Parts: sequence; C-alpha cells; structure tokens
Amino acid sequence: MSKLKVAPSFLSCNFAEIGEDIKRVEAAGADWIHLDVMDGHFVPNITIGPPIVAAVRPYTRLPFDVHLMIDHPLDYIDAFADAGADIIAFHAEAKSDIADTIARIKARGVKAGLVIKPKTPPETVYPYLDDLYMVLVMTVEPGFGGQAFMADMMPKVTAIKQECQRRGLNVLIEVDGGISEKTAPIAAKAGVDICVSGTCVFKAQDIAATIHYLQNPLE
Ligand code: DX5
Ligand code: ZN
Repeated sequence: MSKLKVAPSFLSCNFAEIGEDIKRVEAAGADWIHLDVMDGHFVPNITIGPPIVAAVRPYTRLPFDVHLMIDHPLDYIDAFADAGADIIAFHAEAKSDIADTIARIKARGVKAGLVIKPKTPPETVYPYLDDLYMVLVMTVEPGFGGQAFMADMMPKVTAIKQECQRRGLNVLIEVDGGISEKTAPIAAKAGVDICVSGTCVFKAQDIAATIHYLQNPLE
C-alpha cells in the first residue's frame, strides 16, 4: 500500500508561534500544512484569514492546504490565492456556486478541493470530479479540533474513489478530523491519500515518529 500524505492542521499549534510550529512539523516530515479558516457563520468558531496565511508563508516550502469553513468562499478565493495557498478546499454546503468557485480557484492557478460534511452524501461531489484536484471527506463535524473520528464516513471515501476509477480520474481523497495512530489504519484501508491531523501531531511527544507512523499506518 502506498504511503499516505500527512497534513498537520495548524489549529492545534501554538498560535503565538505559528511560523515556528510550522517549521517544526516540516522538519519532522510533514507533507502539507493544513490551514483551517473559520468565519463564525459556517461553523461556530473563528480562526484566521488571508493576512496570517501570508505571514506564515515564508516559514516553509511545503504546500499550503487551505480549508475554508466560510459561508461565501467565492468572495475570498483571490485573497487566499494572493496569500500563497497551493490548494483551496471549500464546502459544498457553503453559499457560493460550486462550479463558479472551482473555476475561480483554477483561474488563479491554485488546485481546487471540494469538502463534504458528515451528513452530505458522496454523490454531491460527482458532478464536479472532472475539475477537482481533491475531495475532502470530513470525519468530524467541522469547527473544532480534538473530536472523535467517524469511521462510518469510510464508505463515502470508497464510493468517491470508485466513481473516480470508473471515470478514469485521479482525484486525491483527504480526510480531516480525529486522525490518530488508532484511526489512520482505518483511513488507509479505505484508500485515503491524505490525512489531516491536528491534535495527534502537535500534542505528540515525538512528532517525527508520529508523522512517520501516520504516513505508514499499515506497515
Ligand atoms: C475541524 C478542522 C480540522 C481539525 C482537525 O473543523 O477542519 O482540520 O483541526 O483536528 P484533529 O486532528 O484534532 O481532529
Ligand atoms: Zn480542516
């Protein structure tokens, strides 16, 4: 089984030292940096906006995987592209038109991801698969770190993978929420390509060993 990519979520880092914490997980072998953007409307929490993304951009060469949990993603694509996002993933449940938002992301030379919450069926992403770099299947209700992994989301991962295979598409599948040494093998078996991990990576005694384990959970 091929190696999983690990994207530590900055949500669990020390907010007074985001840049240094990002450097630390890069040195420990992280593949991408996952940046959770929340607006207090789409989810009941507020985090960061484009200025912080731009401020931490020089601290690492790793791809920035920006997860927008905001009501109107289309209005902010340019700002996050300017801030240095490499991948922008937005929610299918948000208020912007999905096709227009994907088109805007791609017009800025950024890779497009579509995210679905736990109650949203996998078929929601099917009309857009041709234009997507990634689908993010949430394995917790978005809004907060430190919640329990929903293993019952794995059939959605399998369904989306099968649909991509049937159509000859190579769309990456990411999961986000509750990833740990215990749950990463479940995600790997379902065929996930990228695991986001906040708590498990940033609270680890040995961050490098934890990232290495999450990259190879079936070995
Ligand atoms: C939740 C965020 C996640 C979260 C993951 O809304 O999208 O990225 O920070 O954190 P853990 O790994 O602690 O569940
Ligand atoms: Zn996230």
